[in-house]
Amino acid sequence: QPAREFTIAIDGPAASGKSSTARAVAKELGFGYIDSGSIYRCATLLALRQGIAADKIDEHISELASLISEASMEIRIQKDAGRHTIGLAAAAGRLVVPGVQVLLNSEDVSKEIRTPEVNRLVAKVASDRSVREAVLHMQRALAAAAESSSTTIRQKGKDIKVPGGVVMDGRDIGTTVFPTAELKIYLDASPMARAIRRWDELSNQVKDAAKAKRLSNSRNTGGAGDGQSTKPAVTVQADYPSVEDIARELEQRDYQDINREHSPLRIASDAVVIDNTNLTFEQQVYSIADLARERMGLE
Ligand code: DC
Repeated sequence: QPAREFTIAIDGPAASGKSSTARAVAKELGFGYIDSGSIYRCATLLALRQGIAADKIDEHISELASLISEASMEIRIQKDAGRHTIGLAAAAGRLVVPGVQVLLNSEDVSKEIRTPEVNRLVAKVASDRSVREAVLHMQRALAAAAESSSTTIRQKGKDIKVPGGVVMDGRDIGTTVFPTAELKIYLDASPMARAIRRWDELSNQVKDAAKAKRLSNSRNTGGAGDGQSTKPAVTVQADYPSVEDIARELEQRDYQDINREHSPLRIASDAVVIDNTNLTFEQQVYSIADLARERMGLE
C-alpha cells in the first residue's frame, strides 16, 4: 500500500453534519471520500438480511464478521450534481454537496442502509470487536482506492505539488483508523440542533418520495404531471418521527458509541474541535478546507 499523502479524519456524534461536510470538503480539495458509517450500516443490513434478531447479534457475531470480510463494497461519489442544481446553489452562494451511492455486493443499498431498522441496530453491531476488525480492513482498502493522486500546479511562477488525499468521516477515524492523519476534525453541535437537522432531512425525504410517486402516478394515468391536477394522486403519509423522538434516538446512539469498549467515540488529542451549532455550512466547510491547505503548505 503506497504511503498516504494527505488524510483528513472527521469524527463526531450522530447528525453533527460530518458526512455532508466531509463530502463538500473532499469536493473542494479534489480528494476522495469515504463515509465509514455506511460500512457499519452495510454490516447491519447483512445481519438483518440474514434474519439475525437484534437480541441475538452476540450469538451470531463471528458469522457476521465473516460475512463482512467476504462482502464487496463500493462508495461512489456523484461527480456532477447537474447544471441546474449547481446554478441555483451558486446564485444563493451555497455549496453543492455531492451525493453518494453505496454498493454492497454490487447492489445499490443507498436507501436501505438508512431505514429506522438499521438506525436502531447499527450502534449495537458497531460495538463488537470482530465486526470492527473486519470493517477496519474495509475502511483502509476503500480509502486507498478512493484517494486522489497528487498534481502539480503553477502558482506565482513556481511549480507547487498539491498532494492527493482522502477524507473519511466516522467515530474513530482520528483515534484508530488513521491515527497519523494530517488533519483531524471533531465536529459537534448541540443535541437539539442535531435533532432538528435530522428531522429536516427526513421530512425532505418524505416530500421527495411523495413528489416522485405523484409524478409517476400522473404519468401512468396520462396526467400532465405538473402537480396541478385537482385530485391528489397519493396521500402523503406523515409517518416520520417527531423532533423529540429523533433527539431520544440520537442520544441513545451517542451513549452506545461513547461508552462502548472497543474504539469508542473520543476526541483525538490533536483534533481541531468545531462546534457548528451557530455556523453556516459554508463557513465550516471553508474553514476545514483552509486548514487543510495551510497544512499542505498551499496558503
Ligand atoms: O455516521 P452514521 O450515523 O452513518 O454511523 C452509523 C453508526 O456506525 C454509528 O452509530 C456508529 C457506527 N460507526 C462507528 O462505530 N465508527 C465509525 N467510524 C463510523 C460509524
